[in-house]
Order: sequence, then structure tokens, then C-alpha cells
Amino acid sequence: MGRLLEIYDRTFGYHRQDYIKHVLKLCATRLDPSILRRILAFAVLNNEFAVLKEIPKFGHRDELYYSLVNRIGSNTRIKFVEFGVYTGVSMRYFLSAFTNIDSQFYGLDSFQGFPEAWGVGP
Ligand SMILES: C[S@@+](CC[C@H](N)C(=O)[O-])C[C@H]1O[C@@H](n2cnc3c(N)ncnc32)[C@H](O)[C@@H]1O
Repeated sequence: MGRLLEIYDRTFGYHRQDYIKHVLKLCATRLDPSILRRILAFAVLNNEFAVLKEIPKFGHRDELYYSLVNRIGSNTRIKFVEFGVYTGVSMRYFLSAFTNIDSQFYGLDSFQGFPEAWGVGP
């Protein structure tokens, strides 16, 4: 690659930075915009939101719940508000996991489902 750049510099009199920009522009004009969007999103995510990479990932929601309770402390006095309790599966989990009797729990639901279709993530 270095040798190629030297040849290009000699032949066309380009500065290396200009050449790289030129090549990138050429690539950009030939790529599908959806690919460019993904590259841009990746760059922004990596540079502007690098802290997101530190966020733990969980294979199952039970692991997330367990980790939450551990992190907060099961006997900590909390105010718990759940938006979307449905039949109360997660609500019941947190009700039994957080044991401080002074904690408060509120469960809310529109019972109209989600406003749009959703499924398993990518
Ligand atoms: C997947 S269910 C929740 C399941 C529950 N958290 C559990 O783990 O057992 C989603 C619920 O959120 C409710 N919901 C969706 N959008 C809502 C909103 N804007 N306000 C209140 N509830 C909402 C739906 O009606 C539905 O009952």
C-alpha cells in the first residue's frame, strides 16, 4: 500500500492526504447509501458513545433482573414504577426480589398493546 501511494504521489503529484480523501470520495459515490449510513452510525457509536460498549449485555431478561437487584441491593428501600405490567410477571419478580417493607411498587398499563408491531431484536 505504501509503495502504491508513493507511485501515485509521483505520478499525479497528489499529497497523500488528498489521495486518501480522493479514494474515499470515489468509494462513497459508488456505495449504496444504506451502507454509508451503517458505516457512519458505527463511527458515531464508536467515537461519540464509546461508553455504550461498557454496558453489560444479558442473554435473558432474568439475568438482567438478577443483576439489577444485586446492584441496587435487595433490601434497599426503593420506589418501583413499571410502565407496561400486563399480567404482572416482571412486577411479581421485583416484588419478591426487593424485600424492604418500606419500598413502594406501582404498576401501570394501557392494556392496548404496543403502538406498533415488534419482535425479537436483530
Ligand atoms: C410485553 S408486555 C409487558 C410484560 C410485563 N412487563 C412482564 O414482563 O410480564 C407490554 C405491555 O405494555 C403495555 N404498554 C405499551 N405501551 C404502553 C404505554 N404507552 N403506556 C402504558 N402501557 C403500555 C401493553 O399494553 C402491554 O400490556
